[in-house]
Amino acid sequence: MIIRLGRNIATQNLVPGQAVYGEDLIKRKGVEYRVWEPRRSKVGATLVKGMKFPLRENHLVLYLGVASGTTASHLSDMLTKGMLFGVDFAPRVLRDFVLLAETRSNLIPVFDTANKPEHYRWVVPQVDFIVQDVAQPNQAQILIKNARMFLKKNGHAFVAVKSRSIDVTAKPGDVFKQFKQEVKASGEFEILEDIRLEPFERDHMALLLRKK
Ligand SMILES: C[S@@+](CC[C@H](N)C(=O)[O-])C[C@H]1O[C@@H](n2cnc3c(N)ncnc32)[C@H](O)[C@@H]1O
Repeated sequence: MIIRLGRNIATQNLVPGQAVYGEDLIKRKGVEYRVWEPRRSKVGATLVKGMKFPLRENHLVLYLGVASGTTASHLSDMLTKGMLFGVDFAPRVLRDFVLLAETRSNLIPVFDTANKPEHYRWVVPQVDFIVQDVAQPNQAQILIKNARMFLKKNGHAFVAVKSRSIDVTAKPGDVFKQFKQEVKASGEFEILEDIRLEPFERDHMALLLRKK
């Protein structure tokens, strides 16, 4: 469950007493919430900016680029009857995510590259939601491959795009336009929303997509 606290948002803590990345814990009517820091999480930034995020408590989620689980920890709070499969290829950050998953039974770590979804086909089921935050030049193709393999029809994808990771020299607006064209050309998605993440992240865009 998400609540709004003035300009902030917070999720009901699935593991009371646990702070994951130094965020504040607050109590309202005897219930503990974790403040979702928009400068530490691109999903958090888009929520503060008012973008829709149609995640339900029973969803199955594939998270590409889960890192140590800062954002995934808030999704874990929300997925009280669901499950999140978190993929990352960097051992140092994934080790922290494994430790987090030991405290939260709805998190499953997958140590692999998101470029090769066929590697984790045996562990990841058909999902309702994909979250992608990999900051890679070929991230549109990574998204499309994973969506073709795992995302249910009418399922949603949240994508964070960092302009400089795709092309350091091009104007961010041009990179974002090109990214959207690539996603549309795949024929897989309808683009529901796109927003820039300033002031929380410079030269980033977030997209909400629905699989056709
Ligand atoms: C910006 S960080 C993600 C932060 C995280 N989404 C959060 O909000 O808590 C990007 C992550 O993507 C991972 N990554 C980049 N390319 C990848 C790939 N091809 N396969 C798996 N992980 C990848 C990196 O190792 C890094 O941990």
